[in-house]
Amino acid sequence: MNRTSIEASAPGKIILFGEHSVVYGQPAIAVPVSQVRAQCRVDGGTAGAGILLRAPDIDRRAYLSETGDDDPLASVIRRTLTALGLATPPDVTITVTSTIPIACGMGSGAAISAAIIRALGEFFQHPFDPQTVSDIAFEVEKIYHGTPSGIDNTVVAFAQPIFFVKGQPIERLTVGAPLTFIIGDTGIKSPTYKVVGDLRARRGKNPAHYDAVFMRMGALARAARAAIERGDEAAAGKLMGENHAILRELGISHPKLDALVSAAMDAGALGAKLSGAGWGGNMIALAAPENAADVRAALAAAGAVRVIETVVR
Ligand code: MEV
Repeated sequence: MNRTSIEASAPGKIILFGEHSVVYGQPAIAVPVSQVRAQCRVDGGTAGAGILLRAPDIDRRAYLSETGDDDPLASVIRRTLTALGLATPPDVTITVTSTIPIACGMGSGAAISAAIIRALGEFFQHPFDPQTVSDIAFEVEKIYHGTPSGIDNTVVAFAQPIFFVKGQPIERLTVGAPLTFIIGDTGIKSPTYKVVGDLRARRGKNPAHYDAVFMRMGALARAARAAIERGDEAAAGKLMGENHAILRELGISHPKLDALVSAAMDAGALGAKLSGAGWGGNMIALAAPENAADVRAALAAAGAVRVIETVVR
């Protein structure tokens, strides 16, 4: 028997090290951000009506039967029903909401997918393990941005800090001492597929150069893992600065991202860098706990449209 109503959620995420180079096989580090979440509620619907999809945040209301295969929300529902072995669409209403800003590098698409997969699994009394949630969400990530590395779906499905290498089993990152991150949003929307696609085209013209840059980023991610594991905040902060410098060199930054990074450093942050796809979206700063309020204030004063503090343990 199905339940009458079930809710499930998934967190947002930030990438600490290795965005973009992770697409080319280098390691990266990402952590969940539970202060922002995607949520999905499944309610029993009218008999014979099929699946009604509601996304009130974006004023969307559609029956699944009216949607195409390139629709990410519909695709995640269809793939989940297949995984549940439900050949005939059940009569349910699926309502999706999210507080994760869209196109800002916080994994909004992957978190929405994960919330839907979990909620449907629970509703039909077949809860999915995190790896299955991640695998289904990964297929849908391909609709959102073409050639995803898989880091976003993995970190939101497992909801824990990860050291991630594309195509390899997940490695949990042990955090030696809690790390306080301040996330500053430029307010500039930047769809991941555009930045990833542009970089792919540029790499296509000069693979040796770009692959050497990506290897430097991979080395930074490995060094950062060691620093985080031994609880060395100062070393982790320094490595963030080096990672930001390489991302700038790659043409991934934006003047507003650079301004927020400088503002955080001037306010005493241990390190700062852009996070996610770049060209807009978010930056992150690592701060000593006693300095976090100063960094938050500096980011707001420098024009961040939203500032979130999160502690990684
Ligand atoms: C997006 O959150 C991270 C990128 O590295 C793309 C990816 O890994 O798929 C830019």
